[in-house]
Amino acid sequence: MPTQDIRTHTYDVVVIGAGGAGLRAAIEASAQKAKVALVCKSLLGKAHTVMAEGGAAAALGNVMSEDNWRVHFRDTMRGGKMHNNWRMAQIHAQEAPDRINELEAWGALFDRTPDGRINQRPFGGHTYSRLAHVGDRTGLEMIRVLQDKGVHSGIDVHMECTIVRLFVVGGRIAGALGYFRETGRFALFRTGAIVLATGGIGKAWQITSNSWEYTGDGHALAYEAGAELIDMEFVQFHPTGMVWPPSVRGILVTEGVRGEGGVLKNAKGERFMFRYMPDMFKGDFADTEAEADAWVKGDRKKNRRPPELLTRDVVSKAIVKEIAEGRGTEHGGVLLDIASKQSADLIKKKLPSMYHQFKELAQVDITKDPMEIGPTTHYMMGGVKVDAETQESTVRGLYAAGEVGGGMHGANRLGGNSLSDLLVFGRRAGQYAAEKHGTPPRIPDADVDIAMQEALAPFDRVDGENPFAVQSALQAVMQRHAGIIRDRQGLETALAELDKLKVRALEAGVTGSREYNPGWHTAIDLRSLLVVSEATARAALERTESRGAHTRSDYPDSDDKQAREQIVIKKEGTRMTVRRETQPALPADLMTLIKEGK
Ligand code: FUM
Repeated sequence: MPTQDIRTHTYDVVVIGAGGAGLRAAIEASAQKAKVALVCKSLLGKAHTVMAEGGAAAALGNVMSEDNWRVHFRDTMRGGKMHNNWRMAQIHAQEAPDRINELEAWGALFDRTPDGRINQRPFGGHTYSRLAHVGDRTGLEMIRVLQDKGVHSGIDVHMECTIVRLFVVGGRIAGALGYFRETGRFALFRTGAIVLATGGIGKAWQITSNSWEYTGDGHALAYEAGAELIDMEFVQFHPTGMVWPPSVRGILVTEGVRGEGGVLKNAKGERFMFRYMPDMFKGDFADTEAEADAWVKGDRKKNRRPPELLTRDVVSKAIVKEIAEGRGTEHGGVLLDIASKQSADLIKKKLPSMYHQFKELAQVDITKDPMEIGPTTHYMMGGVKVDAETQESTVRGLYAAGEVGGGMHGANRLGGNSLSDLLVFGRRAGQYAAEKHGTPPRIPDADVDIAMQEALAPFDRVDGENPFAVQSALQAVMQRHAGIIRDRQGLETALAELDKLKVRALEAGVTGSREYNPGWHTAIDLRSLLVVSEATARAALERTESRGAHTRSDYPDSDDKQAREQIVIKKEGTRMTVRRETQPALPADLMTLIKEGK
């Protein structure tokens, strides 16, 4: 296909992905007077940001005045099992309150305290009630406000456009090639600065809260462009996804249910989380049901929280153990009960989406009966290695913010930290991309031609295998061998199976035209899915310990020596390489702060 047939656009900054991080980056770059394009695979506003339902974490101290950035930093580092990029965790805790207040100034309608301030609810791993929220629709409200602000900032939005290649010329970003799903036509974006904000990789697993867009495109684009990926072994399995009926398996049940007092029980009716208290958190949590109930009712003097508010890695593993030992429900889950702890009025007021979700999808009235839930793939802690201050990757001019960026959350993310992360680092990425964009180098026509030919190759294989079959096989491999509990044998099997799937993906074919052709879209998504799945399996095999969301049954303990070791993935030639790198130690004052809290 000759390059003159494609439309070429030139921008100062191109943001890929239009969830919270992408919108916030685009708003900031535009405020710096850059000419900005926002390119999104889906329709504007349809983003995984809306799946952070329960709130955005920021130490505003509106509900518990003891809160401040230091406690938030400490909670984030402890939740991340001390593996986090400490500087990102510090910047995040310090800047989150300003970003939330700014969002309110732009029109976000947060729930209020009785005296009219932004209300904050408790969430797992947060010492104090810290999540600014809008019922259980916080991410949705954030997207609404950012979208409104964005479209009035003079940003060009290119919707339903999938980016298939980034171009690097002379070691720096020069542009990106995409195609429009509606027409199948290509577009070339020339730019000196790209912000990746493509979200996560959840569609590599069968049971997931992620929708079809989340195939790891940004991770794979960065990898192919020569950037480094870190922490790819740390995949968050949210403890509470729907399990029944099968058509809704994996849909998120917000942690806000537990924040409002919901308790977890096994099929025998036992409130089991009291049995799963890690040493690290002993003393911070209630020992008895009576103490936990008193806390929910407002007795915060000792602030010993219910064990359901332990971090997500701990709660997910506890649920898996209960089920494995035969105490699960008939559909392979456990029970989440708020009906016996809160009034129907409160449930409907604070959790309206959950009320409707269960009523309509599962015919369960959560004001009367418990919900059947189990872990669901939710969030990728690993991502593109970035500079903590600027969000620039190891490729000049390539930035990453939000879920596609790595480091901030360490081995396990605290609920609510994703929404504040995307505001804080989306803004920084937009700012630095705008400041440093420069004039883009010229992209050789031959490189564009090759990228287009590769994208169109599935049309040359009309008798090839159906790409959906390959995608579904990949999801089965990852679910089985790279799920919550892993071991060497399973991960080696996963890598061998992924090798076979690579061959099948190269032989997959599509028929029909380029206009809205879902088979073609899936054939292209497979390229990203294979990269991120392999990176996850390789990193998980390399990390010979259990830490946070990464659990090895053959290495069940954490190994202090590996706490600050990072698994780095990089493309060398055509090979995926894996190496270990030691992260800088925490400065003494921050280390003292963490120890003091204990
Ligand atoms: O459970 C939730 O509402 C999800 C929040 C998050 O992932 O931060």
